[in-house]
Amino acid sequence: MPDIDPADKSMDAIVALCKRRGFVYPASEIYGGINGFWDYGPLGVALKNNIRDHWWKHMVECPPIGPDGEPVSMVGLDSSIIQNPRTWEASGHVGGFSDPMVDCTDSKKRYRADHLMCHELSAATNLATKAPDAAVEIRPIGWLAVVEDEDYANLWVQRAKKIIKKTGGGELHVAGLNFVPYNELPSDIQKLVIGPDSDKPGTLTEPRQFNLMFETFVGAIRNEDAKAYLRPETAQGIFLNYKNVLDTMRVKVPFGVAQIGKSFRNEVTPRNFIFRSREFEQMEMEWFCAPDEAAKWYEFWKVERMKWWKTLGISDSNLRYRDHDEDELAHYSKMCVDIEYKYPFSAPGFGELEGVAHRGCFDLTQHQTHSKQKLEYFDQERQVKAKKAGASKEEIDAQSKYIPNVIEPASGLTRGVLVLLCEAYTEDGTRPSKEFMKFKPKFAPIKAGIFPLVNKDGMPEVAQKLYMQLREKYTCQIDAKQSIGKRYARMDEAGTPFCFTIDGDTLQDQTVTVRDRDSQSQERINIDKVDAFIAEKLAD
Ligand code: GAP
Repeated sequence: MPDIDPADKSMDAIVALCKRRGFVYPASEIYGGINGFWDYGPLGVALKNNIRDHWWKHMVECPPIGPDGEPVSMVGLDSSIIQNPRTWEASGHVGGFSDPMVDCTDSKKRYRADHLMCHELSAATNLATKAPDAAVEIRPIGWLAVVEDEDYANLWVQRAKKIIKKTGGGELHVAGLNFVPYNELPSDIQKLVIGPDSDKPGTLTEPRQFNLMFETFVGAIRNEDAKAYLRPETAQGIFLNYKNVLDTMRVKVPFGVAQIGKSFRNEVTPRNFIFRSREFEQMEMEWFCAPDEAAKWYEFWKVERMKWWKTLGISDSNLRYRDHDEDELAHYSKMCVDIEYKYPFSAPGFGELEGVAHRGCFDLTQHQTHSKQKLEYFDQERQVKAKKAGASKEEIDAQSKYIPNVIEPASGLTRGVLVLLCEAYTEDGTRPSKEFMKFKPKFAPIKAGIFPLVNKDGMPEVAQKLYMQLREKYTCQIDAKQSIGKRYARMDEAGTPFCFTIDGDTLQDQTVTVRDRDSQSQERINIDKVDAFIAEKLAD
């Protein structure tokens, strides 16, 4: 069955399946939910852990082979979510980690100002005569804003027509659809804007900067001195421990420190299911290298990270690179490329999955200045080389003492879960389940279903024995309830790649039926070969 283009997949259907099958639930659902927070159900947490373990294996335990043919040097870390608040002053998050935000006094909704796409709105009357010199009366209505989305121009036209009808009629009068984000409009024009959920102009407030960090208090007293933040990225915990790792792990530049963990951002507009949440997990690695080698390592990690995403079974055509333009770069970044995925809600466009950034020496320099601790690196090999080359003392010092540059591949673990859910989701009206999850077997939450054909004649006992043999190696489930077709349907929706059925013949010849999720084909294999069969399929 050919892969389905993400543009032809429905996010509503994916979200519904995720809820129905226990992948992802809205957080606090019995209390009406809480916007931007999600709970990972039994299948969702298994899928997330599979991606997490695969990243850790290929980043920390068995890191890639470097340009010199040797594995690169990498260690792991698990730093605290709450750090000394000065961390976030040094990193620039206290002063700068914010989005421009506007409130609508009419709808009481809040929007990101840079996501509100605005265009002047006028109605024209007398166009009906079509006479070239007919008097045309233009009625200015204001400016109309819609939330930036994949088809916002179309949405704008539809809303514009409705507002014209409501406010006196006429034809929509536009000369080219050139949208301006709300925060880029002059303030006298902002007062004329009709918000996305209102019909009146002038209900949107001026944009205000809104810091995305969640605040909390440490200790018994709640005052400014006790204020702390939930980390908005895992990266800073790595910079804070750079010297500890250097002093305790016998590592030499270039080396990397990798970390997986929760991050928190009070996003103004969390949306697109788990794509932009307020609590999420990141997989980040900071690669410390000599400044004159940073460009080489940037290229290296850019290629390695794309290769890694492809090992998860994501098709080439759904992944791409997008280099950041200069005006898009974060304050710390010298170069940045995003690895993007074609999500059903962005298709035919793409959305961010991971960023690979050249952070220069920004972070370590900032922490050195703010903490007054020396974070300079002494490079003995460079010193020896420079001495041998007969360099002056100043030249030797300049070459062997430096603040390392950092290359940072930063990805979202929960965004990886979303990508695998979207990639796996497949509709097939000919199946009992009508939809199934085509995970690469290695990442499937359940690897094998074990079914006694009927719940008698010794079959449950054989199934139980097989299950007990397999459970230590693979996540398996026994299912003896309902017809075999219904059991296949349940496993298809969970994305289980293989189902083994114990039937009357098993008791005679020790064979079982193995049914393949994707092709639905069935073959018989010896019950002793089931373990090796699964192992082979998961090897890739
Ligand atoms: N340390 C750099 C950093 O955090 P980022 O681009 O802001 O960079 C890295 O985040 C990755 O974290 C993103 O590519 C995305 O996969 C994930 N991410 C960021 N914000 C997120 C959110 N609100 N919800 C889910 N994932 C998010």
